[in-house]
Amino acid sequence: MSEREVALITGASMGIGKELAKIFAADGRDLVLVARSEGKLRSLGQELESAHGITAHVVPADLTDPGAPAAIFASLENKGLHVDYLVNNAGFGTTGAFADVGLEPQMDMIQVNIDALVVLTHLALRGMLARKKGRVLNIASTAGFQPGPDMAIYYATKAFVLMFSEGIAEEVRDAGVTVTAHCPGATLTNFGNTAGNAKSILFKVGAAPADKVARHAYRSMMKGKVVAIEGLMNWLSAFSVRFSPRVLVRKITRWLNQTS
Ligand SMILES: NC(=O)c1ccc[n+]([C@@H]2O[C@H](COP(=O)([O-])OP(=O)(O)OC[C@H]3O[C@@H](n4cnc5c(N)ncnc54)[C@H](OP(=O)(O)O)[C@@H]3O)[C@@H](O)[C@H]2O)c1
Repeated sequence: MSEREVALITGASMGIGKELAKIFAADGRDLVLVARSEGKLRSLGQELESAHGITAHVVPADLTDPGAPAAIFASLENKGLHVDYLVNNAGFGTTGAFADVGLEPQMDMIQVNIDALVVLTHLALRGMLARKKGRVLNIASTAGFQPGPDMAIYYATKAFVLMFSEGIAEEVRDAGVTVTAHCPGATLTNFGNTAGNAKSILFKVGAAPADKVARHAYRSMMKGKVVAIEGLMNWLSAFSVRFSPRVLVRKITRWLNQTS
């Protein structure tokens, strides 16, 4: 059995999750890589094993399946692994008015962005608290600070992630465990293609590279920060929302989400 710490990362097949996997591996952690794209996870795992001498366990899973988190943890138990770092990164969005977009993708989004994250956190946190050691990194978004017309469910899921993470961070603050909600702004990944907002004003204003966002998320988690926002402009926009009339915030966000 390896003495190395173990990091479980969801959504590790690409984007921010893949960059986080590279950082954890470079720092000598074993990995549990989760996503639907098994082939991508296997090639990433092999690349990181040979570059850093770590072990990468590939656990393909579709997090729209309500049974997936328990199945992931059952497979870790079979391998005799416990989770020292949980990174809830898997997530996606849809673009369009709530009533115009089909219910199924929006309910799937709630399942992946919220339900799976909550269940995985519950499964991991109990072991961390028993060992008095562990870190949870939840990838939220600057979307979590305000309502998001034309991406209403996505913004609401990220508000949940932010509030949930802050709440439990306070609960565990003296227990040797940290919980971080990391809030990227627009980031250059496949997210925009999946969500259909890659050409939105928000992305045109400026999007950060995924490796930079991942490094900031990792540093924030290691420092035990409860809420971390990547980039000065993103911090300013999240901060200004607190003092702006909500009607104005809704209108500006809708404008930023426009794709044409
Ligand atoms: N990019 C941005 O502008 C931005 C900004 C703020 C926050 N975020 C957040 O950052 C996180 C990572 O997104 P990203 O930008 O890196 O996007 P991405 O490149 O599209 O990566 C999304 C990851 O989530 C996985 N995933 C999606 N649906 C899944 C499912 N049903 N089951 C299991 N895994 C699933 C994908 O893997 P498979 O397809 O292989 O399953 C992929 O690895 C998300 O939570 C997103 O909301 C992104």
